[in-house]
Amino acid sequence: MAGAERYFRKSLKASPGAIDYLKHRGLTGETARDFGIGFAPDAWDGLIQALSPAPQKQLLEAGLVTQNEKGRVYDRFRGRVMFPIRDTRGRIIGFGGRVFGDQTGPKYLNSPETPLFHKGRELYGLYEARRALRRLDRLIVVEGYMDVVALAQSGIANAVATLGTAATPEHFQKLYRYTEEVVCCFDGDAAGRQAAWRALESALPVLGEGRQLKFMFVPEGDDPDSLVRAQGKEAFLQLAGGSQPAIEYLFARLAEGLDLTSIDDQARLASLAAPHIERVPEGVLKQLMGNRLQTLTGLAPARVAGRSTAATSDARHRGPSGPASRRVSTLSRRLLGNLLRKPALLHALPASTRQALLSLQDGRKDALQEQESGTDLFLDIVKYIDNNPDVDLAEILGRWSGTADHSTLVALLGQPAGLAEGALQAEFTDGVDRYLQLSGRADRQKLLAEVRKEPSREKFEAFWTAKRAAGSAADEGNSA
Ligand code: UTP
Ligand code: MN
Repeated sequence: MAGAERYFRKSLKASPGAIDYLKHRGLTGETARDFGIGFAPDAWDGLIQALSPAPQKQLLEAGLVTQNEKGRVYDRFRGRVMFPIRDTRGRIIGFGGRVFGDQTGPKYLNSPETPLFHKGRELYGLYEARRALRRLDRLIVVEGYMDVVALAQSGIANAVATLGTAATPEHFQKLYRYTEEVVCCFDGDAAGRQAAWRALESALPVLGEGRQLKFMFVPEGDDPDSLVRAQGKEAFLQLAGGSQPAIEYLFARLAEGLDLTSIDDQARLASLAAPHIERVPEGVLKQLMGNRLQTLTGLAPARVAGRSTAATSDARHRGPSGPASRRVSTLSRRLLGNLLRKPALLHALPASTRQALLSLQDGRKDALQEQESGTDLFLDIVKYIDNNPDVDLAEILGRWSGTADHSTLVALLGQPAGLAEGALQAEFTDGVDRYLQLSGRADRQKLLAEVRKEPSREKFEAFWTAKRAAGSAADEGNSA
């Protein structure tokens, strides 16, 4: 890996195009040197030659070369500006490469997972930050390589980046090994809010004593790189100074759309917040969260905790109940629960299945509703997610807050998910198929009932057409 870095750095010196690109992006030679930025020439075997006679097996294992179906091996990074990724001891463990000019392909190409490189754990720029600063009072987590590099050049050396993934719990564990305060910096758009929510979920379990987590948002259309370049270091620091404690952010998002002067909504906030508070390790922070919730809702933490356990066991054993929540059939409940936890499930359905589900909206859902209570709520949420593909749980709950269905949804979330990511999608897809089958059957039963009530040739034909279309479903009874 060190040899590859040397080759990329040497190649940069010989590439006016790459140097121009970096200059154009405002980087000085000094910054490029500090970060070891290089260039991978646009050749099939430039690196292979440079590292010769390194065994092919090792190059493959290090992720420096790839192999096509014919078994031919060639350089993984071609025609890209290269960012070496170091571990905390400064050893090169991977690379990120950016296209520029008229090169095609993905904007950034990263090393694959290798024995050295695990994307979910590594932070770009952490080694460089530790080298530049004696004390790390805080670390700023940004999204991109160029954000880290541009901030460092402007004199903000304490920025690190996750590598094209959401921050994981392992990332936070690592960050708090080197500092007590982490400031996560997000884009000010819907995607940024979603990323903030995901970061919060990853951070909660590691937010122990003395660890602080804050969020800052850069204005929509900007990123830290463009901001610091256009407006300078002070502008960025001022924005960072206004960052919000993540716990405040959590409460603010959960309370969106709630009227905290109403007792109902106070209780809703309490049950929404409880599962998050439970994930925080015992200690002062957890107590603070309880206190904060108490200030917001007037509910004592003990009652809040009691409430959440009651809601959980209630949901587990008997399904959601209580005056405000409605009955939801088992299948709808499972589908809804999965979809709330992961709205993206909808878009991962096979296109035809999703279309069939969406078309249940018009009229046909009534027959189904009689058999599957909760159908209308499920289909409303399906429609909402279809129209707003980026929504997350908090946004959905916010949208339904103040309606009777809100408590139904909250109660559903009290049920354990208990499925791994991949299994969740499979269960959801199967469930929707089953749901569509049920819908077809309900349609036919309704038609059949009408034939019986008041027989007519048209109704009879409609029924048999539906039945033939469904294949030989024997479950309606053929007595007609
Ligand atoms: P962005 O697309 O937000 O780009 O990716 P950026 O960092 O602003 O990049 P510039 O300024 O155009 O150079 C953010 C980060 O996501 C990862 C990279 O780590 C990138 O820095 N990424 C992005 C990938 O891994 N692959 C991609 O195709 C795009
Ligand atoms: Mn950028």
